[in-house]
Amino acid sequence: MTTAARQNWTPEDSAALYGIRNWGAGFFDLNDQGEVVVKVPFPEGSASVSLMDIVTGIEQRGHVMPLLLRIENLLDISLSQLNEAFRRAITDAGYTGTYRGVFPIKVNQQCQVIEELTAFGARYSHGLEAGSKAELLLALAHLKNDGLLILNGSKDREFIDLGLWADKLGIRCFFVVESPKELALLIERSKSLGIRPLIGVRVKVSSKVGGLWTETTGDRSSFGLSTAQLVAVVDTLRQAGMLDCLQLLHCHLGSQIPDLDDIRAGVNEACRFYAGLVAEGAPMGYLDLGGGLAVDYMGAGDNHLQSRNYTLDDYCAALVATTAKALDPLKIAHPNLVTESGRATVAYSSLLLFNILDVMRFAPIALPEQPDEADPEPIHALFRMHTDDQSIVDYTEALKCRDAMRALFRNGTTSLRQRAAAENLFLAVAGKAFHTQQSNDALPAELAELKQGLADIYYGNFSVFQSLPDTWAIDQVFPVMPLHRHTECPDREATLSDLTCDCDGKLDRFFVENDIRGTLPVHGLRDGENYLLGVFLMGAYQETLGDLHNLFGDTHVASVRINANGSFDVMKEISGDTIGDVLEMVEYRADDLFETFRERTEEAVRQGKINIRERQTIVEEYAANLRGYTYYED
Ligand SMILES: Cc1ncc(COP(=O)(O)O)c(C=O)c1O
Repeated sequence: MTTAARQNWTPEDSAALYGIRNWGAGFFDLNDQGEVVVKVPFPEGSASVSLMDIVTGIEQRGHVMPLLLRIENLLDISLSQLNEAFRRAITDAGYTGTYRGVFPIKVNQQCQVIEELTAFGARYSHGLEAGSKAELLLALAHLKNDGLLILNGSKDREFIDLGLWADKLGIRCFFVVESPKELALLIERSKSLGIRPLIGVRVKVSSKVGGLWTETTGDRSSFGLSTAQLVAVVDTLRQAGMLDCLQLLHCHLGSQIPDLDDIRAGVNEACRFYAGLVAEGAPMGYLDLGGGLAVDYMGAGDNHLQSRNYTLDDYCAALVATTAKALDPLKIAHPNLVTESGRATVAYSSLLLFNILDVMRFAPIALPEQPDEADPEPIHALFRMHTDDQSIVDYTEALKCRDAMRALFRNGTTSLRQRAAAENLFLAVAGKAFHTQQSNDALPAELAELKQGLADIYYGNFSVFQSLPDTWAIDQVFPVMPLHRHTECPDREATLSDLTCDCDGKLDRFFVENDIRGTLPVHGLRDGENYLLGVFLMGAYQETLGDLHNLFGDTHVASVRINANGSFDVMKEISGDTIGDVLEMVEYRADDLFETFRERTEEAVRQGKINIRERQTIVEEYAANLRGYTYYED
């Protein structure tokens, strides 16, 4: 990039670099001041609020970084976009069934999210999907209006009984049979309580889908019934006089399915099962196609794993059209379509915001003016490369010299200072090679890794394992970018390291210029000024999967609602875990720890190591730490 281009950098340049208008789905953009804004559409026009203003507002309320920010409006809008898109697709296709969305609780079980979701979803009778007894309990308390309740997962007697009582309360609760064993229990409990359940069957489709969750389908998937088991289930229901209860077919192809053709193929196969059950005499009426609606994390609009090659409207139209096309020739009434979209419903509404604490640079700290006569040859060679004015640096040779010096050091034949001199010189030579590379496309391939090798490490105040577990577990990439300073050209390249003492606690895959890169363009840190980054689209799956690695707990959470006039209200604040909280989660009792420590300080007083005043200070600090935030506080 030319110096002029750097100097004339604008937020438009940043928007293109970080792709915010591609993955932001219209919800995120940059303002003229170079700050990331959240944009919310209102009938009177869209309102934009700077995330920096929100951060200031939250900090004024006493919460420090890192912060999980929830933007209520985005959840509300995502839910209505999903329901409205299905409504349009159904009307346009002349489809005679309805759309009945449900939210799979496992995607984000947090109370605040479920409360908002069920409140916003009430106008569409959006239901819930529960896969465990705990999820069922919270669903029974929160489900609104006549939303469906879909019960997946393994069900024991307690689970089944509660679901049956829910049915008695008037909740349309479907027991999705995943195994023949569970059917026997369901029949027994239904007869015993005298309640006839609504039954669904989950099938394994053989259509394979692309994406990160391809094991969800196929013969060896752990979920659902094989075709042979399905037929046995029909026979058992018939014998029990309960075939009329079988009204729903369930099939979940996988999550984050990037290719619409894969979805069409899976839906078509599901329809064949549906038709088969109708032919068997089951009344049916509902076709539940599970999750799979992808989020375009990358903003590429193609079938990359982190993207999707379709719009929401395309998805809805494909489900509706494929179902009608498969069932119309068989003269089977259009079923009510159920989807269990989780990721696409909640991803946009949560962001992780954190500050950068420190930086490690891969640049020489001090360079020798002249090597000593007695210095080993690799130092002299590196020095020559550093001072020579040749246009192409022999980077491979420089690497050899550095490694030779390391070997000499390990053998005990060079000193600490000599090794340091060689490392400084090597970094200077590597930097020179990198700059030559940038202006010369024809350089050898081994130089390609230089950018990554010379990138800064920015230390962020967050834990990958607590807040972004999928980046570590399944190589998920989330959009990451600075929240401010977009009127300046980002002049550094960095990877991000978290607070945990773990080499996996890092982010080193980023969406940059419509591609996945190993480094993120960032701005140099300024003394006395916070540098803030955001990780976007992380509302699905991350919160409950997160763990306590290195005992970093839940971050503070703030939920805001953007108003049409561009102001915002902080609707809820939840303080993050204290150190005492996380210690209790791993079976310590904070009181016991305090007491044991207090005794230790008493003993130190007795032994004359500290005086009473020092003891008091130490004990108070210990107690304050137990009440303190697990993250880095200034
Ligand atoms: C049965 C079931 N339904 C729905 C979902 C949600 O899928 P998604 O987040 O892709 O919408 C899942 C997640 O894997 C699932 O297992």
